[in-house]
Amino acid sequence: MVQKATHLADTYKKFPVEIEAGKGSLVFDSNGKAYIDLGAQTGVNIFGSADDIWLSAVTEQAGKIPHISNSYISPPQISLSELLCERSGAEKVFFSNSGAEANECAVKAARKYSARKYPDGRHTVVTLQNSFHGRTISMLSATGQATFHRQFKPLTSGFEYVNPDCPEALYRLCGTGKICAVMIECVRGEGGVIPLPEAFAQAVKRVTTENDVLLICDEIQCGPGRCGRLFAYENYGLSPDIVTLAKGLGGGLPLGATLFFGKTADVLREGDHGSTFGGNACACAGAETVIRRLTDDVFSGVMQKSALVFGALEGAKGIKKVRGKGLMIGIETEQPSYEIAEKCAGRGVLLTTAKGCLRLLPALNIPESLLMRGIEIIKSVIAESV
Ligand SMILES: Cc1ncc(COP(=O)(O)O)c(C=O)c1O
Repeated sequence: MVQKATHLADTYKKFPVEIEAGKGSLVFDSNGKAYIDLGAQTGVNIFGSADDIWLSAVTEQAGKIPHISNSYISPPQISLSELLCERSGAEKVFFSNSGAEANECAVKAARKYSARKYPDGRHTVVTLQNSFHGRTISMLSATGQATFHRQFKPLTSGFEYVNPDCPEALYRLCGTGKICAVMIECVRGEGGVIPLPEAFAQAVKRVTTENDVLLICDEIQCGPGRCGRLFAYENYGLSPDIVTLAKGLGGGLPLGATLFFGKTADVLREGDHGSTFGGNACACAGAETVIRRLTDDVFSGVMQKSALVFGALEGAKGIKKVRGKGLMIGIETEQPSYEIAEKCAGRGVLLTTAKGCLRLLPALNIPESLLMRGIEIIKSVIAESV
């Protein structure tokens, strides 16, 4: 029997699994039953649950001082910001607590960049249809999906959505002189695990460069490391001006980061932005171990495991399509995905759904044998559902 969530706001549909503990890519319910975790708790536990290296950095920091106010110099923040800049080529980092906040910071900076340089009215941010950028009112507005907007109007103004199958729409919008930034996910996660079409990526590259429009890459779900490189945009040869991170960055604790490159490095000045918990010392200490471990070996492991999963699932009974990049994989099934995910949970495999498809976001270091054991169970549940 699982406990009833009587006093939790009813904002989430929950699988009937009461998770009590986790180690690596296994999690355990309150009866001690083990589950193969192929969702890594929505991609957050990027090196598995309670990973030893991450855990010792976090607990060591908690024992020293768990939180350092942003009014003082915080060694864990300094060292993580240096590492992120060294690995990405960025010059500055703003730390927050979540993906939505990292994106809010990116949009504020993009608007200020434009306001300093151009006449009023050049403040619109173009995002993709079917995108997802968070749940604050402004990030709902940035999200290009009407289902998320309903009943929450009025939304923040200044967002336009384009269909990534139609680069002409992007050219048209960026030619109006009203656009300050284009914000993209290189793989739209909540939108159904859909990689960006190559032609659109090339259009983004051209139009942002030619019009001094900033490129913001939302790597909250598709990065870091998940798509087989440190950042998913590297797969498209893009050079963003601003990059946002969250989920896997914290490795299990809440942490958001907004990375500023080149011409955006000096945009945010004293008093422009802030956060009480942003850049929490324990979260930063853990995140440093995450970024240090994202090496070429890990990336090639991600790509190898990805190829095994695609190979096992493509063309299997009850599966219409498998898509994604690296270890961000969507499975379109003939039968409703949520019911399949529920049955998988009953058979000891956890995964989530995204816009009508099954979604895999396993820990990047999941052992191949465990991953494939989980995939075989998913495959048989899908086949039985037909
Ligand atoms: C691409 C993307 N951006 C932003 C967010 C929002 O992140 P958070 O829930 O941490 O605010 C998410 C969360 O799923 C996401 O996938």
